[in-house]
Formats: sequence, C-alpha cells, structure tokens
Amino acid sequence: MPVLTATNIGKSFGARDLFAGITASVPHRARIGLVGPNGVGKTTLLRILLGMDDASTGSVHTARGTRIGYLPQEAILEGVQTLWQECQKPFETLIERQHELERLEKKMSDPEQAAEAMETYGRLQQEFDHAGGYTFEMRIRQTLTGLGFSREDQQRPLDQLSGGQRTRALLARLLLSEPDLLLLDEPCAGMNSEEKQDMIFWIKDIQDTLGVTILLIEHDMKMVMDISERILVVNFGKIITEGNPEAVQKNPEVLKAYLGEEEDGIRGVA
Ligand SMILES: Nc1ncnc2c1ncn2[C@@H]1O[C@H](COP(=O)(O)OP(=O)(O)OP(=O)(O)O)[C@@H](O)[C@H]1O
Ligand SMILES: [Mg+2]
Repeated sequence: MPVLTATNIGKSFGARDLFAGITASVPHRARIGLVGPNGVGKTTLLRILLGMDDASTGSVHTARGTRIGYLPQEAILEGVQTLWQECQKPFETLIERQHELERLEKKMSDPEQAAEAMETYGRLQQEFDHAGGYTFEMRIRQTLTGLGFSREDQQRPLDQLSGGQRTRALLARLLLSEPDLLLLDEPCAGMNSEEKQDMIFWIKDIQDTLGVTILLIEHDMKMVMDISERILVVNFGKIITEGNPEAVQKNPEVLKAYLGEEEDGIRGVA
C-alpha cells in the first residue's frame, strides 16, 4: 500500500500549462528522488502533494493516517530558533535526581542504611515519575542526539551552528511530529560537499532507523543517486522516465533532454 499516490496531476497558471498527467506513487519506507531542470514545477508538485496548492486536474491520495513533514527550500529560521530554545532549557534537576537515585540504590544494599535509603528512594522515584514536564525536552534531546548533535553542540547558540547543523535541527523539528513521509525540497542548497556528504548520511539514517519514507527534490545528481532507490525525472511538463539510479543514469532520453549528451553521462553534469 503506497504512502501517497498522485493520479493524473496537472497544473496551469493562467494560460500556461506547467505540467499535465503526472501519475506516481510513493511506496512505504522508500527513498524517492524527484529531479528536473529549473522551473519545471518540482516545488509546485510537492506543494500539491502536501495540499498547500490545488492541482488543476487529478487527485492526490495519502494512506489513512499518514503524517507528512515538509522541509521547504528556504529553511525557516524561526522554526530552528524555537527548537533550539526548547532544547537549551536546563534540565539539570532531572539529571541530578537520576544521579541521586543511583546513589541511593547503592546505599540500599548496605543493611545499616537500607531502611532510610528506601524511604527516600520511594519519595524521589515518585517525584521523578511525575516530572512529566520534562518529557518533551527529553524527546528533543534524544532526537537531536539521534541526528548527531553532541551535548556541547545542543547547548551552543544558534548563530554558532553550521548551515548543515541548522538544516539538521530543522529535520529534528520535523521528526518530533513523527512523520511517515518527509518531503525535502533541496535540503542541501548552499552546502559544501562535506556538509552534503553528512546530510546524505543523515537522510539515509532517518529512513533506516525510523522507517520514514523520503521524497527528495535535489539538483545535485550525485546526491540524488546516492540517496534514492528510485528516481522520477520531470521535464516538458511530464515524467519523462522513472527507475533506479542506474537505469535513469543510462536512459538516453534523460541524457539528451535533461542532462546534456556528455560522454560520461550523468556524472559529467554539475
Ligand atoms: N503562484 C504562481 N503563479 C504563477 N506562476 C507560478 C506560481 N508558482 C510557480 N509558478 C511558476 O511555475 C514554474 C515552476 O516553479 P517551481 O518553483 O515549481 O519549479 P521548480 O522545478 O521547483 O524549480 P527550481 O528547480 O528552480 O526550484 C516557474 O516558472 C514559476 O514561475
Ligand atoms: Mg523548486
């Protein structure tokens, strides 16, 4: 059962037909790349899939209960800022309490201290269990840690983070809503090759560990090839081909129409 199915989607702006008859489905747990030259309508298509724009024709169907996370082309600094403030709220009290409980556990094995320690332990454990207010912060911490943020980086001010880290913070924010499908529109725009490499790792990792389905728009073909199990190529208002990276890379129509007829094919395109 696909996470999302688009049937016969068309979009016109006034008299201009941007695309027509786009039919595609996104299987559960897949990593799909969407590529095509500038201005063919990739972002518009993504917005239609999200329900942010209306299609002129056709329909989009998502599996029941599917939660979609969207990383737009321009990172929303406001979103990162909020997440960052949340994760920097001190929760040392909780950590201190944890340590105290551990110390008491040791004391409980000493017959002379056991009774008193057990009494204090019971009280602290109860308080600990009721510290529900900390749960969300814990989740933020866990998510950021899962995305490779060290404790030190989690406490750094936002302006001391690299572009790659900020994009990862945005991803963390999206993951907190536990999406089934992530739509990423050029998440690596403006990154250097090291940051891109890092991002490729994290996008794959998110899919592997959380089972999130990924639909990625990206101009960097090497990156798309690396991340995607399946690639859709859009040009001239339609999907000109789709397949695995190897097949797409060799497709003559892709080479001719989109990538230019370079000797070494797709790799020759910047
Ligand atoms: N609201 C709108 N009204 C009129 N034209 C629009 C509107 N939104 C987008 N377009 C046009 O549709 C075309 C496709 O835009 P879109 O941003 O979807 O392309 P894209 O494939 O994502 O391009 P890029 O690779 O540069 O991000 C562009 O020519 C754009 O000017
Ligand atoms: Mg775009």
